[in-house]
Amino acid sequence: MPNKRRLEPYNNSINIPVYNSASYYFNNKDDVIDGMHKKTKQIGRYGRYNNPTWLYVEDRLSELSGAEDTLLFASGMAAHFTTFVALLNKGDHVIFPSECYRQVRNIFKKILPELGIETHEVSIVDPEFFVSEVSRICKEHPVKLVHLEMPSSPHMYLIDLDNLKNVIPKETIVTMDSSFSPPPNFYALKWGVDITLFSGTKYLNGHGDIIVGVASGRKDLIDKINWYRDTTGAIADGQVAYLLNRSLHTLELRMKEINQRGMYVAEYLEKNSLIKNVLYTGLSSHPHYELGKKYLNGHGGVVTFTLDRNEEDTAKFIDKLEFPYMASNFGAPQTLIEQSTFFTYFEYSEEELNAIGVSYGTVRIALGYTGDMDSLIADIDQALKSSIY
Ligand SMILES: Cc1ncc(COP(=O)(O)O)c(C=O)c1O
Repeated sequence: MPNKRRLEPYNNSINIPVYNSASYYFNNKDDVIDGMHKKTKQIGRYGRYNNPTWLYVEDRLSELSGAEDTLLFASGMAAHFTTFVALLNKGDHVIFPSECYRQVRNIFKKILPELGIETHEVSIVDPEFFVSEVSRICKEHPVKLVHLEMPSSPHMYLIDLDNLKNVIPKETIVTMDSSFSPPPNFYALKWGVDITLFSGTKYLNGHGDIIVGVASGRKDLIDKINWYRDTTGAIADGQVAYLLNRSLHTLELRMKEINQRGMYVAEYLEKNSLIKNVLYTGLSSHPHYELGKKYLNGHGGVVTFTLDRNEEDTAKFIDKLEFPYMASNFGAPQTLIEQSTFFTYFEYSEEELNAIGVSYGTVRIALGYTGDMDSLIADIDQALKSSIY
């Protein structure tokens, strides 16, 4: 085998190739100086710092969100954690919503306080209360960062961003978990958010086959987060970046289809007398319907409904279903269903469940974009009827 180094034969592939390289070569000393020291030339160095497949998809994600810059991460949680650790220091104050994703809540409740960061929890159930509480806390403390999530799961609560921005000091950073409402349904940065965070695992990828995270927004903040990603290494690999890039081609088509399905199924569920209530921001019965009209271009495929049943009897309904998978995720091609107190909140006490407004009859259905919705509806119908004993 000859040992002379090989060069890439050509670079005119329509699709970005999957780059899987632990390091990158430099052609000469000047390349090292320009690429690594001065950073005036874009050239790879080492696989924890750069990967051309990431750069390609990061650029596309910036374009999608209207961001100055984007970073890809190993998971949505890695994107969240790296962002918070990069932007916060000991003694800083942060505000977070009670209704945010359980593991993000754990970061605010358990990890950040251990690092000496003061976290203030405020419920978003009442949008006016949320704004007034944030205003009060910002007057009492120099709040460094306000974290938001909308819609929240499982209630699909929203936040009045215009009102909120009026009470937050200019220098306070606003981050937003937009996993449930990616573009084109919602453009967080357009409404004054500084960094939008995604579990790319969900709608952005939309095939249920990778775990990936995204942070998009202001370049000065992304640069800081990038230093932490370089250092702590919560990176996605080339194959994951490739699959996410592939998925972005169909994001708009998928969201359009999913929004229609969401509305269709939510309307059916609302008419069904065996269902106590339905939470979907596209329905006028949702407490934040007006906010949805203002901020969202579509309401997605996650529909939450409540049965007037105890935990056991709700489980009987789910067990009778033949169509959806009993699984916890959303944005996948397949339809998934979960009983909230059996899945996401299975470790919560009754008191904690009451505090977050989740009852034993709460069910979350995450509609896929495959399979026909009338069969799903018929399946829900038969399961509701056949699980009453
Ligand atoms: C709203 C929300 N944010 C963040 C995450 C974390 O994302 P990942 O699973 O990609 O780490 C999830 C995962 O379920 C989520 O639902």
